[in-house]
Amino acid sequence: MKFRKRIIAGNWKMNKTVSEAVELSAAIRHELAECNDVDVVLCPPFTAIAAVAESLEGTTISYGAQNMHWESSGAFTGEISPFMLRGLYCHYVILGHSERRTYFGETDEIVNRKAQAALAATLRPIVCVGETLEQRESGDHIGVVSAQVHASLAGISGADLKKTVIAYEPVWAIGTGLTASPEQAQEMHACIRKEIAVLCSQEAADAVRIQYGGSMKPSNAAELLEQPDIDGGLIGGASLEARSFVELVKIARERN
Ligand code: 13P
Repeated sequence: MKFRKRIIAGNWKMNKTVSEAVELSAAIRHELAECNDVDVVLCPPFTAIAAVAESLEGTTISYGAQNMHWESSGAFTGEISPFMLRGLYCHYVILGHSERRTYFGETDEIVNRKAQAALAATLRPIVCVGETLEQRESGDHIGVVSAQVHASLAGISGADLKKTVIAYEPVWAIGTGLTASPEQAQEMHACIRKEIAVLCSQEAADAVRIQYGGSMKPSNAAELLEQPDIDGGLIGGASLEARSFVELVKIARERN
């Protein structure tokens, strides 16, 4: 198996004022300033990115946004462009999160446009996919997620896919306290990796990092991160407190 550096990212969603965000990033920095063996990424709301960036200066901790528009500028009231994020030296951008798909009508085609625009702006996209409970219960989950991977990443080169992170987030596990079992998650991660081989190449499939997201917390992270195709976590609730987020990074480090 090819070595893939683990990646633990915090998706703070619509939480934290600027001062709260700085307080949280400072507490994380205090524990993880010298973390080189796991990629650590903080994704605050847009309003706090600049302040979090400043508080992370001189550390190896990266930061990013939770969404962006695909155009570089123009009459798109309320939107943020890839170049604006690069202007803040963001490294990553989360795209196609299920909350964006559900509440804001984002489709695979939109996610694909955004992913291409992010890569063109030298941002690393974290592209989210995942099935609903209904889709899992009807036995469609593999087909649904494979189709999302195909459509969201269509036309992206092997070199760019290697810079892309995929987050498998079963919708039924997000914010519910329910987690996919390690076997359920591993099965899906292996399918996603196979899809990348079909879409592009085995080389890209071996290199792409696939995170699990959905109620990941210190008590369940170890068994998930021990699975061969799970390369990290995209963390919601447990990233809003320094103690649990730092603990998750430490668990990932121990499994390198
Ligand atoms: P929770 O960890 O709160 O379930 O959220 C997961 C998520 O949506 C991360 O993007």
